[in-house]
Amino acid sequence: MGEDKSSALMAVEIGPFDPSSASDAELAESYAVMSAVMTEDHPDQALPPLEEYVALIRRPLTELGPMRRWVAREAGRIIAAASVSLPENENRHLTIVRVIVPPERRRRGLGTALLRAVLPAAVADGRTVVMGSGVKADASGELWARGLGFVRTLAYVRQFLTIADVDPALWERPVADGFRLERWTGAAPEALLEEYARARTAMLDAPRGESVVEFEDWTPERVREHEADCRARDIENRVVVAVHEDSGRVAAVTEVDLWASQPGEAAQRDTVVAADFRGRGLGLAVKGAMLRRLTADRPAIGLVWTHTAQDNDHMIRINHALGYVTTAVMTYVEVGADELAKRLEAR
Ligand SMILES: CC(C)(COP(=O)(O)OP(=O)(O)OC[C@H]1O[C@@H](n2cnc3c(N)ncnc32)[C@H](O)[C@@H]1OP(=O)(O)O)[C@@H](O)C(=O)NCCC(=O)NCCS
Repeated sequence: MGEDKSSALMAVEIGPFDPSSASDAELAESYAVMSAVMTEDHPDQALPPLEEYVALIRRPLTELGPMRRWVAREAGRIIAAASVSLPENENRHLTIVRVIVPPERRRRGLGTALLRAVLPAAVADGRTVVMGSGVKADASGELWARGLGFVRTLAYVRQFLTIADVDPALWERPVADGFRLERWTGAAPEALLEEYARARTAMLDAPRGESVVEFEDWTPERVREHEADCRARDIENRVVVAVHEDSGRVAAVTEVDLWASQPGEAAQRDTVVAADFRGRGLGLAVKGAMLRRLTADRPAIGLVWTHTAQDNDHMIRINHALGYVTTAVMTYVEVGADELAKRLEAR
């Protein structure tokens, strides 16, 4: 590292950060770091107001496992940040790391110093793969990661549906003969629970590039755990399914999450059509029905966003047909933990 870089870093202190006990000034500094990075990578995306941001970092989503945070400070002020998530269940072999440095402070070794500082905690329990998710394709984050030995294992598109810009007639998608739609919020009806879990497991064959991330193997117990987790976090989990009348099987599933802290938007999560029911327009039917009901029940929602693997042509086509617009290509990048430790040592 050049002398100007090491002297720039000498004044920097890296340490853990706990949003639940942080002062208002620290939360505002952390918000400023996030805002600077988001504005650069996603200029088209509205920033959440400070209060929403604070609510979100105090209760991060658990689907990636428990999250710990670190910050870099200069003269006591937060100037950059990192987080580590440790997935549970299927994904105990990997650790998800996120490092953010505002554009005006880049290329001075800060990002690398943060990664070096969090790595021991990230791999302490034997995780063998370090992953970055939500890394914008070909932007600074991916280029930085590549220099440290990470490789892109998945590309996915971020798609936005701006309710005001879309003709709701696009969502009128009748369900195929022989199927009926059912919907619920928060808890699957007992009569459909087992079939619902089975249908969700069909996600296991969704495209996932070269990534080592494993999709969840859903069981009725897992469904109930997930529902309880959403309730505990003020997340309204809305589901629409298509049921095959003759067999009673759940043929298609789609779910949307609404966060109490983000009343203006909805996240379109998993959509699955079980393998033997594909090609009948069921994906379009459940997603269209979801949008019709969502906009009727929640007029305050202006935006629905979703992520889909870039090579999942069917789902991308369905989303376009419903009015979604692709706004960015994002990636997963992954590297072996030992390889990364070696690279960092050599720097
Ligand atoms: C990724 C990020 C944290 C890097 O922060 P940083 O402080 O600039 O990183 P460093 O100074 O430690 O970079 C070290 C090396 O990485 C490489 N690198 C960093 N940014 C790069 C870029 N935009 N293009 C090419 N190489 C780059 C270079 O080899 C650099 O060394 P050099 O400056 O001597 O050439 C910052 O760009 C960022 O916040 N990006 C947006 C968020 C993100 O995508 N994070 C990564 C996902 S986990």
